[in-house]
Amino acid sequence: MAYRSVYAEHYQRAEASGDEYDRSLANRFELAIFELERRQLQDLFRRYMASDPRTRYLDFACGTGRILAVFRDRIRSKVGVDTSAGQLEIARRKVPDATLVHGNLVTDPGLLGDRQFDLITSFRLLLNLEPENRVPILRALRERLSPGGYLIVDNHMNRYSVLGVAAWFAHRVLGVPRKPHVPPGRRGIISTMTEREMREALAAAGLTVEEVRRLFVLPGHGSVLLLPARWLVAAEAFLARVPGMNRISKNQIYVCRTASRVPA
Ligand SMILES: C[S@@+](CC[C@H](N)C(=O)[O-])C[C@H]1O[C@@H](n2cnc3c(N)ncnc32)[C@H](O)[C@@H]1O
Repeated sequence: MAYRSVYAEHYQRAEASGDEYDRSLANRFELAIFELERRQLQDLFRRYMASDPRTRYLDFACGTGRILAVFRDRIRSKVGVDTSAGQLEIARRKVPDATLVHGNLVTDPGLLGDRQFDLITSFRLLLNLEPENRVPILRALRERLSPGGYLIVDNHMNRYSVLGVAAWFAHRVLGVPRKPHVPPGRRGIISTMTEREMREALAAAGLTVEEVRRLFVLPGHGSVLLLPARWLVAAEAFLARVPGMNRISKNQIYVCRTASRVPA
């Protein structure tokens, strides 16, 4: 099928190397977010897969192996797929026992042969991807789920969070271009997505949402945090469980299964 993604092309270019991506996440705010994401993923693995090390696991758009590494010692069969060779090079160092596949599952449905997976994750992809590419990718992932398997995806900039409203305002009112569609010499701002937009894309791809975990209510940026890092993680772990309050969290993690009726 025809598929073009400026977002994927950005990561294929030399300057968008894996090192650069990892450096952009090596700050106090991103590390605190990752600490909670890691705990949530481990909890979901316990809850839905009974922590079974025989789980067949695929991390789609695995990048530098950040999420694959969460399951490094927990799952034996790990596959990572990405369209960027530079990102996969870093992942190979972090998770040497994973099978890493370079290619595009949408344009090349035979990329993974007839393999099926009990658990598929895809983080920090759907938000930034062109909206028209979201459903084709989600469909391709749904087709890879084993019967009863789970797909876990995220939205890392909920439009109704403090930072999401600021990013939306910067783009819509101040005209700051959205990454990665940024003309040379200009600064870009991250996209935003609502829970409704995510749920619509998932439903159109034949997936039902089993649960949503919501994380990170307090804003921050780089090394600027509203609380010392250790307190922040504890405070956010508490806020994540407060219904209503957690609706304005920045990050959302969706646990999905194949719907009983899949749209044509
Ligand atoms: C922001 S990185 C996220 C990496 C990783 N999932 C994480 O959470 O750290 C986005 C990744 O998506 C990859 N990507 C974009 N479009 C893709 C596609 N169609 N198939 C596979 N990977 C894709 C990019 O190459 C890049 O490595």
